Amino acid sequence: VKIIAYGIRDDEQAYLKQWSDDQGIEVKAVSELLDESTVDQAKGYDGAVVYQQKPYTAAVLDKLASFGIKSLSLRNVGVDNIDADAIKRNDIKVTNVPAYSPNAIAELAATQLMRLLRRTPVFDKKIAAGNLQWAPDIADELDQMTVGVIATGRIGRKAINIYKGFGAKVIAYDIFHNPELEKEGMYVDTLDELYAQSDVISLHSPATKENEHMFNDDAFGKMKDGVWIVNPARGALIDTDALIRALDSGKVAGAALDVYEDEVGIFNTDFGSFDAIPDERLKNLLKRDNVLVTPHIAFYTKTAVKNMVQFALNSNKNLIETGTDDDIVAFN
Ligand code: COI
Repeated sequence: VKIIAYGIRDDEQAYLKQWSDDQGIEVKAVSELLDESTVDQAKGYDGAVVYQQKPYTAAVLDKLASFGIKSLSLRNVGVDNIDADAIKRNDIKVTNVPAYSPNAIAELAATQLMRLLRRTPVFDKKIAAGNLQWAPDIADELDQMTVGVIATGRIGRKAINIYKGFGAKVIAYDIFHNPELEKEGMYVDTLDELYAQSDVISLHSPATKENEHMFNDDAFGKMKDGVWIVNPARGALIDTDALIRALDSGKVAGAALDVYEDEVGIFNTDFGSFDAIPDERLKNLLKRDNVLVTPHIAFYTKTAVKNMVQFALNSNKNLIETGTDDDIVAFN
């Protein structure tokens, strides 16, 4: 078995080497992403392990298949950037890592929400300017709030536990009902009900064609005045222009965003200065005291990165050796 791993960062190298040594399997690490200019490097390997936010195009997938590579293992969870038709027509088997660390995502979501509610970023700024006064930055308490969690997969359920730990009342919406949460009576039947009742709305859903811009003007209109929004999931879930309008009107009190719909090519890049960030809409958000943007860092913990590398390699090995794996992704 010979595996090629694309887009390997420095922080992943040691985990990759450890796995390769333990398994006695050759893994070629390539720092470039998988695209039309790098796909030829995969020739002669049995499987490919990948992570990137840029699209896996039909042309690249067709080429992989033409080299006989039908085992593709993602190191992350989201599969929204894969050309599903090319996967199906080439009979490529794809795995993801659905649970590298649900906690990593939920912890950042809660951290950023608490920073917003307690106004700590504003106090950081005031203190840096020598201002140790309290007013006007009086805080809100999560304990007094209803948190609406959208999607109750592994990450959503971790977030629910953390929010409950703070004493919040939690309600949830999902098409699939988790039996434990169902027993607790946590689910509302419609998103409209969740919008009407929630002081905080926390998004934990994958991005699909159906839910693109689910938070648009219409959805914000159905939410409580002064709602807080938390999105560590996918930028495409929020219509950014509508969010900006809702922030301007005060409909949305504040937002904690670890994702942004146009983040690819911008997040995880050092532009050298604030002014050089090449996205005016993002800068509009970044300038606001009541919006906290982080550059898709929720996953970026030592535990998560180790698991992403090693679980994906395990899955790729399973695909190559047996044609199947527990974490096969179904494309429809
Ligand atoms: C995912 O796992 O799908 C993520 O969003 C994390 C990724 C940026 C590494």
